[in-house]
Amino acid sequence: MSSNAQTVFPPSADFAAQANATAAMYERAEADPQEFWAEQARRLDWDTPFTQVLDWSNAPFASWFADGKLNVAVNCVDRHVTAGKGDRVAIHWVGEPIDDHRDITYSQLKDEVSRAANYLAGIGLQAGDRVAIYMPMVPEAIISMLACARLGLTHSVVFAGFSSAALRSRVDDAEAKVVITTDGQYRRGAPAPLKAQVDEALGSGADAAPSVEKVIVVRRTNHDPELPWVDGRDVWWEDTVGEASPEHQPEAFDAEHPLFLLYTSGTTGKPKGIVHTSGGYLTQASYTFHNVFDHKEGRDVFWCGADIGWVTGHSYLVYGPLSNGATEVIYEGTPNSPDEHRHFQVIEKYGVTTYYIAPTLIRTFMKWGREIPAAHDLSSLRLLGSVGEPINPEAWRWYHEVIGGGRCPIVDTWWQTETGGIMVSPLPGVTACKPGSAMRPLPGISANVVDDNGVPVADGEQGYLVLDQPWPGMLRGIWGDEQRFKDTYWSRFAEQGWYFAGDGARYDEDGALWVLGRVDDVMNVSGHRISTAEVESALVSHSAVAEAAVIGAADETTGQGIVAFVILMEGAADTGEELIKALRDQVAVDISPIAKPREINVVPELPKTRSGKIMRRLLKDVAEGRELGDTSTLVDPSVFEAIRARRG
Ligand code: PRX
Repeated sequence: MSSNAQTVFPPSADFAAQANATAAMYERAEADPQEFWAEQARRLDWDTPFTQVLDWSNAPFASWFADGKLNVAVNCVDRHVTAGKGDRVAIHWVGEPIDDHRDITYSQLKDEVSRAANYLAGIGLQAGDRVAIYMPMVPEAIISMLACARLGLTHSVVFAGFSSAALRSRVDDAEAKVVITTDGQYRRGAPAPLKAQVDEALGSGADAAPSVEKVIVVRRTNHDPELPWVDGRDVWWEDTVGEASPEHQPEAFDAEHPLFLLYTSGTTGKPKGIVHTSGGYLTQASYTFHNVFDHKEGRDVFWCGADIGWVTGHSYLVYGPLSNGATEVIYEGTPNSPDEHRHFQVIEKYGVTTYYIAPTLIRTFMKWGREIPAAHDLSSLRLLGSVGEPINPEAWRWYHEVIGGGRCPIVDTWWQTETGGIMVSPLPGVTACKPGSAMRPLPGISANVVDDNGVPVADGEQGYLVLDQPWPGMLRGIWGDEQRFKDTYWSRFAEQGWYFAGDGARYDEDGALWVLGRVDDVMNVSGHRISTAEVESALVSHSAVAEAAVIGAADETTGQGIVAFVILMEGAADTGEELIKALRDQVAVDISPIAKPREINVVPELPKTRSGKIMRRLLKDVAEGRELGDTSTLVDPSVFEAIRARRG
């Protein structure tokens, strides 16, 4: 792999000649980062122009463009209509059922967002209130997000694949007043209930979620004529938002007004509500969309395959593309619904030019075989993107050749829920790419690779990835937990004042950055972030389990797969398959089916150090079938014989 991986793919002269980005941007940004970001912020319409750029005096709490005021939704919708582009399609929405589709122009989007804003304001919501959005990929999900933005309400989108328990903890933590959902969602061709999960989450009587006043339900699957209904709390979208006026006068908010919370996994069992604000976040989403995706207004058709439940969906399905007046595809279903041709049919039908997905999907396409994409005309594609996990050079090459026909640059974009927008990526038309490397921090962004003491490591050596300068889209905190914010991101290199990303990385001899994956107890499964502690806590919540240790083991398709080792309670019966199924179900109920372990091993003991710390590194060796590393610090090195014997 290494010699192959070093092949460099320079941009073609044709692409370079028309590219939005230029090499000079790096120099300009370096010479005066604040002026550079101010220039990017002027991509947006400000009701009150800012005079300040960055205030870092209260680090690690940043303020960007603090005396400016703007309305995020106006920037994403109204201003395009005002500029005479109202008839442009904003969203080609593609439902999971094959003939279900809907095009929404910017004018229509403005009307829909205004209706939703009028209704939400009418029920008394005020700027700063939180709204939970628990929805599949329907247009109303995006309309809801934008309606919140328009009113200064802070949205908290919860991935519709999360369980009711996960929804409840997020609703309670944010004290959301409203939950917006659908009656059901399509899953591989069949409707599955969703509102029922909201009911379960919100509880009733003494157990009712205290903050929630209203549940707004979009009719999507219509699968249940007897849909349970809580009078006074539940309303249909069509009867409320649908009846509201499409005229709404927006108000401007401070640049630092909170735009959204997004919960993400950390190293403990409790998800963190990452806080993003308005002006800086939108600046970075807009700037990166324009330059990294080389967006050409009125010509490109962009498709980001992420779900709105993740940060990629926030920044590159909603705020990045729409602030740039883009036309985009939003697809509701899974890539093999009804069959493996679906994505390629969509690319062909809508003439998708720019396609942004996770490596796990690329590897899935590889497994399905090249004849599937080959059956379609994919010649509209001109740029490909990758996000969420390291892309292995083999997958990169396949993507380049089979999907991109050898002509499309690939942008491998490194970033995080916490960073708000893309941080490290090639600039298409500028950067000569090495498959597997995210290449270089974007103009305006500064990253370094350092050792435990914060000393930059030599080229070629592995270290910790840190961001040593603030950036506009950076998280402003963890909702309700200032201390955790400082501890998690800013304590490791407190002296230097750097943000610790939690990833290992190295710069190679040519200055290309290779991100090597997490160095903490966070797993990355199909580009989804799941903490080992969360899964362990779900497993031990089952009455048969005394202790659990969870690790992410290398997996050919999903990047990492979840492998669990459990010790049973004294007297609990090991019923084999039945027990394993019960434990996997327990994880689905507590977190989500996406967090179900690939493998659960019932073992007599876990490998621990004398201080009682579970040696996850050694369990990883076992799960990945390697020779064991150093076992000398273990209390009882012989536990591995027993563990191996149980795995067979
Ligand atoms: O480990 C890195 C990995 O995903 C983590 C962030 O996960 P999340 O907040 O869920 O956001 C995912 C979408 C931006 C990072 O700490 N990661 C993300 N993109 C890449 C990546 N690892 C390597 N290469 C990437 N391009």
